[in-house]
Amino acid sequence: MKNLGILLSGRGSNFEAIAANVSAGRIPDAQIVVVISNKPDAGGLETARRLGLTTLVIPSKGKEREAHDHEVVAALNKHKVDLVCLAGYMRLLSPWFVQQFPHRILNIHPSLLPAFPGLEAQEQAYAYGVRVAGCTVHFVDEELDHGAIIVQKAIPVLDSDDEHTLSARILEQEHIAYSEAINIVLSGKYEVVGRKLMMNARAR
Ligand code: GAR
Repeated sequence: MKNLGILLSGRGSNFEAIAANVSAGRIPDAQIVVVISNKPDAGGLETARRLGLTTLVIPSKGKEREAHDHEVVAALNKHKVDLVCLAGYMRLLSPWFVQQFPHRILNIHPSLLPAFPGLEAQEQAYAYGVRVAGCTVHFVDEELDHGAIIVQKAIPVLDSDDEHTLSARILEQEHIAYSEAINIVLSGKYEVVGRKLMMNARAR
């Protein structure tokens, strides 16, 4: 059984999709052991409580990045987390944090990286006039929205789209992509060569 730890800061719809897939057996042999938010009022916490999951609030406000990260890593270790899933966790991890979980931290970003890293990626893409948008699940490294890519999903931008409809359709894809990426990583059937995820590697 692999233990997933979720970090979030807001609404938590990606977390909810992962939780639904875990419950339905679509992420086999995995359980969510803790949901941690740096924001006390994150909607995702409510969802987690409703689902009977262990929740923790570790406020980041006014704390130095590494001091906060030490608290978060201690909580993840206490709950014996194997894989850390950032699900709308709007905080950059310190290099120290990343080193504690090598290739065991995933993030989802609402653009086809390396296009539009950072905040409000969907709005950036819409304003730029791209004809194809999407989302990326990637390993977390020391740089923002940067590590090796695990899964991407692309959708066309429609003439009828505005930022909101585009964001909503990207989000639908996010909810599919994240669980796919978790399954790939938990299967161990891949290798990361440079930036490239090579599938069909022997199970590790
Ligand atoms: C999602 O769109 C996610 O891709 C994005 O925040 C949203 C969280 O929604 N993350 C980033 O922009 C990270 N750079 P959710 O709380 O409903 O999952």
